[in-house]
Amino acid sequence: MDVVLPSPRLARRVERLRPSAIREMLKVTQDPAIISFGGGLPAAELFPVADVSAAQDRVMRTRGAAALQYSVTDGVLELRTWVAQRLRGQHGIDVTADDIVITGGSQQGLDLFARVFLDPGDVVALENPSYLGAIQAFDAYEPSYLPIASDEHGIIPDELAAAFAGADPLPKFLYLVPNYENPTGRTLAPERRRIIIDVCARFGVPILEDDPYGEIWFDRPPPPPLCAGAARGGVTYLGTGSKMVAPGLRVAWMAIPDRDLRDRVVTAKQGADLHSSTYAQYVFHAYVEDTARLDTHLLRVRAVYRERRDAMVAALGREMPPHVRWNVPDGGMFLWATVGSGIDTEELFERAVADGVVFVPGRPFYPHNDRGDGMRLNFSAMHEDRIAEGIARLARAVRQAGE
Ligand SMILES: Cc1ncc(COP(=O)(O)O)c(C=O)c1O
Repeated sequence: MDVVLPSPRLARRVERLRPSAIREMLKVTQDPAIISFGGGLPAAELFPVADVSAAQDRVMRTRGAAALQYSVTDGVLELRTWVAQRLRGQHGIDVTADDIVITGGSQQGLDLFARVFLDPGDVVALENPSYLGAIQAFDAYEPSYLPIASDEHGIIPDELAAAFAGADPLPKFLYLVPNYENPTGRTLAPERRRIIIDVCARFGVPILEDDPYGEIWFDRPPPPPLCAGAARGGVTYLGTGSKMVAPGLRVAWMAIPDRDLRDRVVTAKQGADLHSSTYAQYVFHAYVEDTARLDTHLLRVRAVYRERRDAMVAALGREMPPHVRWNVPDGGMFLWATVGSGIDTEELFERAVADGVVFVPGRPFYPHNDRGDGMRLNFSAMHEDRIAEGIARLARAVRQAGE
């Protein structure tokens, strides 16, 4: 006789957890004939495979069993020291190793931050549109969202001040990606950074600054991070090795200048995973400690991504009808296009798949899912000729959709 098991009584919060719309859509794109601007992948051919392999050998020789042992929750001291030095030297952020917590990707940093801040019904302010993975991480803690209008220079400070003035309750924090944002590729203007810091200080709203792309600039480094310009403790800063070196290592960091907040994040992390992989931390450190080698690697990544951005922008200019608009990002991996002509990019997506090209429709990046005219195009993961062919296919799909 078959035993019918009762369905498991899951937590209320799982109702809010949606599989990433991107991953679901991109499942259809495994076919190599399809050109994908949809993923968010760094260029795998640029990964420093031989150097990471040598770093790994060095770690085994010099650290031996210590690299395979349990370790402290906040992270291996050598790596935290390196991170603090880099944040001070490259970004002007006044931190020491004691302010750093190593995480399993910045994605874990987003989860831990939300875990210590959010009760169900709390409010999170964020730029509109925002990184989908952050919305997914926050969703588990059942907040509501206060989207702040943004333009090509990032969050609009007057809109932020007006939103805070009218908010009841005030948001628990403001989340933003100041450099080469995912999904828009936009950079928050330096003068806006100062005003946003002031507005947040005035209302007592802490900032979560997520900066995975800050080192992937093309012509000049981005403006100083908000964390460098704010009063100590006002901003928590997330950085990651994913775009600088390789995402598979899952090595990232939080700089948390507020000591009490840092201790609470460490306690939350202890419950989540005890600590990030000791082995991966040592290997990452053994690779990046030669900063000249790291900087040479970054020069190459920047040069290749810049060429790919240029190839995409040139192809868009050649192929797209006039109602399509796009930006020219100064770094990162994405550009943002709006199609105009009343075309919804979720419908365009179906047509584009049939034409052998995919992108990510913009709607899921808006916390309230209320705009359907945008699309995110990734330019980092593909050679220039494929980019040109893919944009030609996409332009065909756009033309058909507009007919
Ligand atoms: C804005 C943003 N934050 C965080 C992440 C997660 O990065 P990580 O690989 O460090 O978890 C990404 C990845 O694409 C991202 O675009």
